[in-house]
Amino acid sequence: MKRTAHFLLGLATIFKATRATLYTAGITMMLSEVPYFVAPESVGSVSIQTFNFSGSGAAGLVPVTVITTLQSFSTEDLSSVALDFGNRDDVFQQAFLEYAIVQYNGSSQPQLGNTTLSSGAVPYDISRTNYRQIPNGPYFASASGLLYKAYRLYSDFEGAFTETAIEKSNGTFAVLPAGVPGQSLSIAVPSRLYYTRTEEQPLAGIRLGVKDIFDIAGLKTGNGNRAWYHLYPAATRTSAVVQNLLNAGAVVVGKMKTSQFANGEHGGDWVDYHQPFNPRGDGYQDSSESSSGPGVGAGAYPWLDLALGSDTGGSVRWPAAVQGVYGNRPSHGLAPMADAMSLAPQLDTAGLLARDPAIWTAAAKAMYGSNITISSAYPVNIKTVGFPTEAREPGDQLLMSWLSNATDFINATALPFDIRARWNSTRPAGTPPLDDMFNETYAIFVSQEQTRRLRDPFYADYAMAHDGRLPFVDPVPLARWRYGDSQPPRLEEAEANKTAFMEFFSSEVLRPSPDTCSDSLVFYVNSRVPTYRYEHRDPPRPPFGFSETMLSVFSEAPDVVVPIGEAEYYSSVTNHTEKLPVTVSIMAANGCDGMIFSLIEDLCRAGILQGSQTGMSQVDSGEVLFKRNNF
Ligand SMILES: *[C@@H]1O[C@H](CO)[C@@H](O)[C@H](O)[C@H]1NC(C)=O
Ligand SMILES: *[C@@H]1O[C@H](CO)[C@@H](O)[C@H](O)[C@H]1NC(C)=O
Ligand SMILES: *[C@@H]1O[C@H](CO)[C@@H](O)[C@H](O)[C@H]1NC(C)=O
Ligand SMILES: *[C@@H]1O[C@H](CO)[C@@H](O)[C@H](O)[C@H]1NC(C)=O
Ligand SMILES: *[C@@H]1O[C@H](CO)[C@@H](O)[C@H](O)[C@H]1NC(C)=O
Ligand SMILES: *[C@@H]1O[C@H](CO)[C@@H](O)[C@H](O)[C@H]1NC(C)=O
Ligand SMILES: *[C@@H]1O[C@H](CO)[C@@H](O)[C@H](O)[C@H]1NC(C)=O
Ligand SMILES: *[C@@H]1O[C@H](CO)[C@@H](O)[C@H](O)[C@H]1NC(C)=O
Ligand SMILES: *[C@@H]1O[C@H](CO)[C@@H](O)[C@H](O)[C@H]1NC(C)=O
Ligand SMILES: *[C@@H]1O[C@H](CO)[C@@H](O)[C@H](O)[C@H]1NC(C)=O
Ligand SMILES: *[C@@H]1O[C@H](CO)[C@@H](O)[C@H](O)[C@H]1NC(C)=O
Repeated sequence: MKRTAHFLLGLATIFKATRATLYTAGITMMLSEVPYFVAPESVGSVSIQTFNFSGSGAAGLVPVTVITTLQSFSTEDLSSVALDFGNRDDVFQQAFLEYAIVQYNGSSQPQLGNTTLSSGAVPYDISRTNYRQIPNGPYFASASGLLYKAYRLYSDFEGAFTETAIEKSNGTFAVLPAGVPGQSLSIAVPSRLYYTRTEEQPLAGIRLGVKDIFDIAGLKTGNGNRAWYHLYPAATRTSAVVQNLLNAGAVVVGKMKTSQFANGEHGGDWVDYHQPFNPRGDGYQDSSESSSGPGVGAGAYPWLDLALGSDTGGSVRWPAAVQGVYGNRPSHGLAPMADAMSLAPQLDTAGLLARDPAIWTAAAKAMYGSNITISSAYPVNIKTVGFPTEAREPGDQLLMSWLSNATDFINATALPFDIRARWNSTRPAGTPPLDDMFNETYAIFVSQEQTRRLRDPFYADYAMAHDGRLPFVDPVPLARWRYGDSQPPRLEEAEANKTAFMEFFSSEVLRPSPDTCSDSLVFYVNSRVPTYRYEHRDPPRPPFGFSETMLSVFSEAPDVVVPIGEAEYYSSVTNHTEKLPVTVSIMAANGCDGMIFSLIEDLCRAGILQGSQTGMSQVDSGEVLFKRNNF
């Protein structure tokens, strides 16, 4: 839609004075008080005589609904189609039935019965050779008969996104030029009716948010740093993990926030960007790091189905736990990390977050492809860590009851496991206790890898572009990098320690098994202590220390967070009792991701696990911030 602009000189004479490029990047429309985005590229055309643009037409467009039918079409069909479309899709609304384009796909001749359409219906026989079939759903039609996809606009009121995205017809992406009230970005989601899930496209129409460390062709990658975002051009390639999801039919709606360069930052540590808001409880709990955008999006927005994050030292699992959604750290090496920012390649992984376990497992199968093997024979030994043995605190009863139900379902025996004691009794000669040996391992990996792989070239590029200046970097990554600089090169030492841990873990904790993939499972309880985002913490320091979260990091084994319910706490924000998610981590031997996914599917079928809801409660939903509109 490019045209040449003309220069208007007087009322009577028009001179063509200069050349300009003017094109539409899409249009924002209000239809019955709901905001929509009209895509700039048309998806089809119909020859139209019956549309009346002098009435409700705005910007030369009218709302229409495309309906495919095998028979003749009448009033009864229309109301059932409207009901069905309304149930399946949040983009469709009754107002799109101002006009209907009825596509016949049967043997009978196209004919229109009586309809209640306010303005008319246009029948099309799609067996005609010159007619290209258009997917069902809501569209905007122009006077010349071009049809444009309808996207509904939503406000990112929890601040989970860093950039919006709209797909172009050539497979690259652009930033969405639209806005709605809500003091934040607006995200456009296409009608779910345009897509049909098939074996080849199991994620057709699934709306995906991507952590802003993965490249997407046409968009800039920011890594949570403003200087980085503005210094480098947009990506020309889409990273393989994202491409796998796109190939399976997922629709990217935007890039999501990461703490800076994927380092661990809590509420007040975020300087370049504001930490996204955790929707649960009082709404002012820490949303954790570093995939906090994906975690918040999954917990807060019913219009977002899936989010891609990365986990180097807990970055998918912590946000999944505090937002009460499903989230996985895969076995290391399961997903290629090309065209994505690195913290430490020895530890980096790509994982998914979602509320609906069915969507989440389908997406994992599509993303990891042949790298995961689904198997449904389960170990009969469960090693438990951190489970209560009597109900003292809120959530204790839930955890005990859930563990008992899950254990019974698997026909397993659950026994408490002490990783430190096991290490003490079997550790290689001359090595110290776990907390001493692995105190600095993670800090060495991430600081000494990120300084040389990311910081040094970044500083050099920035200095070159800006007369020798340094870019701004948040205090947390700076503190980590400073620690890396203060140490002699210790990566080899860290790798040797990790190797020792892998050997210990695969022989003493989770052993490979020919029958059940892993000889046992580890179930551990994630932290469920209220953590307010505004609380001042100690100054930033390197990530020292060993915890359960590090088991998968050093062993390369999979670690998957499942939400099991919620527990009450007294909120010092609302002066009211609120609820926070309670989650459990499930681990198996390296390479047994497929067994865990299958186990979760079976636990869902048995009613022992459920999907989580959006909003202030993962169980009962509820409006975050008591919002008054649906944007
Ligand atoms: C088109 O709409 C206008 C305004 O509602 C109305 O006055 C006019 O009669 C309509 N034309 C037809 C052909 O229906
Ligand atoms: C139209 O009919 C053909 C042949 O039966 C079928 O392959 C195709 O999927 C149908 N299209 C729709 C939209 O129903
Ligand atoms: C359309 O409505 C008229 C009058 O209400 C009725 O006589 C006729 O049978 C209806 N036609 C169809 C195809 O339903
Ligand atoms: C895709 O289309 C956009 C314009 O719509 C253009 O700027 C971009 O260069 C194209 N990319 C490719 C790879 O063709
Ligand atoms: C499987 O893993 C290997 C190694 O990381 C990688 O090269 C390959 O692309 C992966 N396959 C898929 C489908 O992700
Ligand atoms: C465990 O199962 C019992 C019996 O079906 C049920 O009442 C209870 O709610 C379940 N516990 C959890 C945490 O789902
Ligand atoms: C547990 O044992 C029962 C009874 O033997 C059996 O029907 C069921 O399939 C077993 N469950 C699993 C997950 O193997
Ligand atoms: C492991 O050994 C250290 C000293 O060697 C001791 O201090 C610690 O308590 C032991 N831990 C466990 C859980 O046995
Ligand atoms: C961990 O290492 C840091 C830095 O060397 C040190 O200050 C701290 O005391 C160590 N903690 C333990 C438990 O060894
Ligand atoms: C590696 O392990 C040794 C003990 O065997 C410990 O002293 C050292 O601090 C560890 N280094 C790293 C980087 O993990
Ligand atoms: C908090 O609630 C308590 C009990 O309802 C009430 O006494 C107190 O005044 C409230 N605090 C504030 C600051 O309103």
